[in-house]
Amino acid sequence: MVSSSVMYAAVPISVLVAIGLIRKWRARNWAKCVSNTCLRGKTFLITGANSGIGLETAKALAKRKGRVIFACRDIGKAKEAIAKIRKEQPNGGEMIPMQLDLASFESIENFVEVMKAGFHKIDVLINNAGVVVPLKEDQKTKEGFEIHFGVNHLGHFYLTNLLMEHLKRATPSRIVVLSSTLHERGNIDFDDLNLRKQIEQAKKSGTSPRHNPGYSNSKLMNAYFARALASNLRNSGVDVNLCCPGFCATNLFRHSVKWYHYILMAPIMLFFMKTAKQGSETVVFLATDHTVEGKTGKFYRNCEEYLSKYPFDKDVETKLWNVSEELVKARKPL
Ligand SMILES: NC(=O)c1ccc[n+]([C@@H]2O[C@H](COP(=O)([O-])OP(=O)(O)OC[C@H]3O[C@@H](n4cnc5c(N)ncnc54)[C@H](OP(=O)(O)O)[C@@H]3O)[C@@H](O)[C@H]2O)c1
Ligand SMILES: *[C@@H]1O[C@H](CO)[C@@H](O)[C@H](O)[C@H]1NC(C)=O
Repeated sequence: MVSSSVMYAAVPISVLVAIGLIRKWRARNWAKCVSNTCLRGKTFLITGANSGIGLETAKALAKRKGRVIFACRDIGKAKEAIAKIRKEQPNGGEMIPMQLDLASFESIENFVEVMKAGFHKIDVLINNAGVVVPLKEDQKTKEGFEIHFGVNHLGHFYLTNLLMEHLKRATPSRIVVLSSTLHERGNIDFDDLNLRKQIEQAKKSGTSPRHNPGYSNSKLMNAYFARALASNLRNSGVDVNLCCPGFCATNLFRHSVKWYHYILMAPIMLFFMKTAKQGSETVVFLATDHTVEGKTGKFYRNCEEYLSKYPFDKDVETKLWNVSEELVKARKPL
């Protein structure tokens, strides 16, 4: 009798131990940011700091006494996140909640106005916020841009340009752009930046492609934007680098994942997905590590340089910059 109940306990326990060991083995390649210098006196601005990778990045920076601005769509969520972090680390750096909706140019402008009134400089800007929405939902920004193009790319494009003086005042300063290795599957069609064709198709069929082209395209635009910015800012003391945090369990997939997917996906999640904290390591590394100083225009993954397989094209890079500038000026899709 005793031996059979031991058996019943032994099975789940060994499964748990096995999962733990496999995760440990998987995690051997998931680098950690080893930099732990004090960040007192430095100002970090993180978009989307209330959730996932942004939240873990904010936590790590505040722990090292950096001052962190939480630029969030929902100010309530920003305050909540800050209160929680403050409870865990009462001696951390200053944390400031601020309202920023990247899906609205007006909100971006208001945000920058308040920023300029309250802060003299920004040492590190972290373009982290991002969305994934199924194409068939046809979500748009306030100005009518396709949601991935509008939030992930255009919003950050506009914000970054408006904050340039603040970054230049803090040199050596940094911009960290969250892209994804999925940029390699992206495509930029200047005749249909708002994906009208694919969205109409998705709406008609009632299904969205499993691989979301809106998202991958926007991550490719993030990469192009960072590269253009890095070359425009060469020798200015503002460095710009890109990163892929890796495949992480965050809220990013909230619109596309149903509850039963979690059951189907459990083995994949357990064996392949990083936690948000593990995903934040490369972001914190790029934001703070002294070995990165002077490096610009590079792509990082697992705290080391990653060579993208995407065939970047200088003409596309300039054209995307030009078109983005035009669209921001026009305040509507042309
Ligand atoms: N998770 C992954 O596997 C993975 C892989 C590669 C790259 N990334 C990149 O990592 C970054 C962070 O994503 P995450 O995984 O941490 O996702 P997340 O948990 O969903 O966090 C995304 C953040 O962006 C904010 N956001 C969304 N729309 C916004 C808007 N219009 N204005 C301002 N903020 C907005 C969200 O605010 P709310 O909470 O208010 O919605 C949230 O704070 C993204 O750029 C993503 O592309 C993630
Ligand atoms: C981008 O704009 C600049 C300045 O207006 C112009 O000289 C250049 O030819 C444009 N490049 C492309 C690829 O559109």
